[in-house]
Amino acid sequence: MAISRRKIALIGGGNIGGTMAHLCALKKLGDVVLFDVVDGLPQGKALDLLQSAPVEGFDANIVGTTRYEDIVGADVCIVTAGIARKPGMSRDDLLGTNARIMTSVSQGIREYAPNAFVIVITNPLDAMVTLCRRVTGFPKNQVVGQSGILDSSRYRTFIAQELNRSVESVTAMVLGGHGDDMVPVRSTCQVGGVPVDRFIPSERLDEIEQRVRMAGGEIVSLLKTGSAFYAPASAAVRMAEAYLQDKKEVLPCAAYLEGEYGVQGCYFCVPVLLGSDGVEKVIEIDLTAEEKSAFDQSLSHVQELVGAMDRVLAQA
Ligand code: APR
Repeated sequence: MAISRRKIALIGGGNIGGTMAHLCALKKLGDVVLFDVVDGLPQGKALDLLQSAPVEGFDANIVGTTRYEDIVGADVCIVTAGIARKPGMSRDDLLGTNARIMTSVSQGIREYAPNAFVIVITNPLDAMVTLCRRVTGFPKNQVVGQSGILDSSRYRTFIAQELNRSVESVTAMVLGGHGDDMVPVRSTCQVGGVPVDRFIPSERLDEIEQRVRMAGGEIVSLLKTGSAFYAPASAAVRMAEAYLQDKKEVLPCAAYLEGEYGVQGCYFCVPVLLGSDGVEKVIEIDLTAEEKSAFDQSLSHVQELVGAMDRVLAQA
């Protein structure tokens, strides 16, 4: 019996969308549809990527489109549609514009890819993933936000650099909202299984963790015309991979909480189990009193952000 390839729809064909298309092809995850509202952009990127196939040795079909009909049958939709930050902007400054875009994209996904596992990347992430779930009406395990894998990867990168160790020897998680008050969880940070504070003094860890919180902004101020895209693309594709390959991988993601961590009815980044049912379980880990207090502070910021989004949408 023929086994057909899986289908990944990338909604938004800009910097992150194009990079994800490349990664999906190189990792042989399935066929890729790159969707954008700017006619020519997704088609051009798709053709360019296809022409790398003989060199790289992948057989995926890559299609660029401006028509939602082409996402029919998608197993996964990854959403980056929206505008990116410019220097001086916080993620929250994108709220009004991206809320309107997220509403229309979510309607498109609801109509044309009702069975897809949806990964949202568009910022401000915690509000956008909330809106996506609300508009699609999909079950909570089917809609998730990418935030923690990227933030944790930044934490691991900086610790590995500091100690001149392989990034693969460093484990760490960043939880909470995807804003400047995200929570690098020091008690989860280990180097070769040994707690990080055995190697780096507390004051230096404070500095590194502050750099993690501001890492996206550091890149925006260097790029000047947009925001980070290689690492965000890698992070989201890792989530798609865990779903498509039923990996049962524990990854920090923005998931809808209903009582876990004492949080009720809100998207927030926590460790979750990702497999073929999407978010299969929320994993509860112990936090120190200091981490819990930072977690709660970040939560009130996310709740304020969602409230601000509701006011913007009510005025529209
Ligand atoms: N439907 C589909 N695509 C859209 C829509 C829409 N309604 N509106 C805008 N787009 C497209 C733009 O045409 C652009 O090609 O979204 C794409 C966004 O790409 P970039 O501007 O290159 O931004 P990118 O770096 O990919 O980031 C996208 O992810 O990390 C977040 O903060 C970032 O919100 C931003 C998003």
